[in-house]
Amino acid sequence: MSPLAVQFDAWIRGPFVDLNDKLEHLYWQQQDKANVEGVGETLKAQLLEEGNQLIQALLEEGNTDEGFEQAFDLLGNVGLFMAACRRHEITEPSREKVSPLTQASALAMHIGASLGVTPRFATAHLTTHNRAINGVYKRFTSHPAERLFIDYNTQAILAYKRASESLMKVHHLGISHPMSLVLLKQVKQALLEVIESNRELFKELDTEAFFYVVRPYYKPYRVGKEVYRGANAGDFAGINVIDMMLGLCPANDISYGQMLVEKFLYMMPEDQATLRECMRTPNLMDAFLSALKGPKSDWFGPACSLFVQVCKLHGDTAIQHHNQLVEKYIAKPSQAMQQQHLSKVTASGPPIEVLLKELADLRDRRAAAERDDIFTRHHDLKRLRQAIGIKHEAI
Ligand code: HEM
Repeated sequence: MSPLAVQFDAWIRGPFVDLNDKLEHLYWQQQDKANVEGVGETLKAQLLEEGNQLIQALLEEGNTDEGFEQAFDLLGNVGLFMAACRRHEITEPSREKVSPLTQASALAMHIGASLGVTPRFATAHLTTHNRAINGVYKRFTSHPAERLFIDYNTQAILAYKRASESLMKVHHLGISHPMSLVLLKQVKQALLEVIESNRELFKELDTEAFFYVVRPYYKPYRVGKEVYRGANAGDFAGINVIDMMLGLCPANDISYGQMLVEKFLYMMPEDQATLRECMRTPNLMDAFLSALKGPKSDWFGPACSLFVQVCKLHGDTAIQHHNQLVEKYIAKPSQAMQQQHLSKVTASGPPIEVLLKELADLRDRRAAAERDDIFTRHHDLKRLRQAIGIKHEAI
């Protein structure tokens, strides 16, 4: 890292967090905790000036080409600064046509385009690619709710990734390979870990703190002319690899495909490559269904039983995400929120009811729910369960 990049990183890990903390403290004391207008103006000016100064120097330094890791990390730091400016409404995309953060936009676009990712901070910057120094990784604030949220997001993402890696290997070996049983057991274990992690998050995360102090840093913001949607924990390939390898969500489904297309540049380049490979790979559900047509074989029962269990667990993680996390931390508090702030609730921008419907459809695809308006694998999974003598969905 160049000395200037080191200096900026130190600012992000230190004074930046202090300034955000002080502002959060002021907002929290208000009757309307969602209001940021006219509060802490001196602190906001300090944040803007210090950040801009450091970024101007980096912009003048130009591309030092110190490798992917360093450039990606620097993009994350610029992004954290821009997201904080958005949170404190130093910038506001609906108010402006171009981001007033000219230097930050220029630097972010230069790095983002050169790496093949969006020019904003992404989930990976705060989770899987967030280096800790002496036990502390990068965060916006020192609020315990933020740390809790990032810890459990990272834990679930890592577990989903493990599940997806094992599933891809099943494809290479074939469903009748004895080692596929071992791999499917690994998938099952990893999904159980996602469920456990989500359960803890649901139990421990304070609703108000999440809604008023954590979530606002994940809003969309402008980089140059363009508005980029907020980061969310789903911006990694693993979850979609599981969707597609299990055959629960097909890449040629109009709304699922739309989501994939939209998501690509929010992921790390290595994840983009994985997702592309997976989109070209046949799914395991079809493989099991076509094995049903052949003669009965000993391998089928144990492999299909594990496959059905894995599908059930993947559906359970989706149900948990929607019915618990989204419901408790987004849907319910939004209802209670003052009308004037409502348009600013989600990270991706669409109205809350549209977003909730999209997420509910996604949940039902993953859970293979019985739906006649969207494509799900409800009947196919039922056939597999019947073939191995399981009568009910709950296994
Ligand atoms: C997307 C809420 C935790 C995985 C979303 C979205 C919301 C949301 C509202 C829609 C995107 C948007 O607004 O831009 C929450 C809340 C959480 C939480 C309130 C906890 C307090 C997690 C965790 C994971 C996760 C721990 C596990 C990796 C996903 C995925 C998506 C997503 C994969 C993309 C859509 C999909 O493929 O399902 N989340 N989330 N979320 N979240 Fe979460």
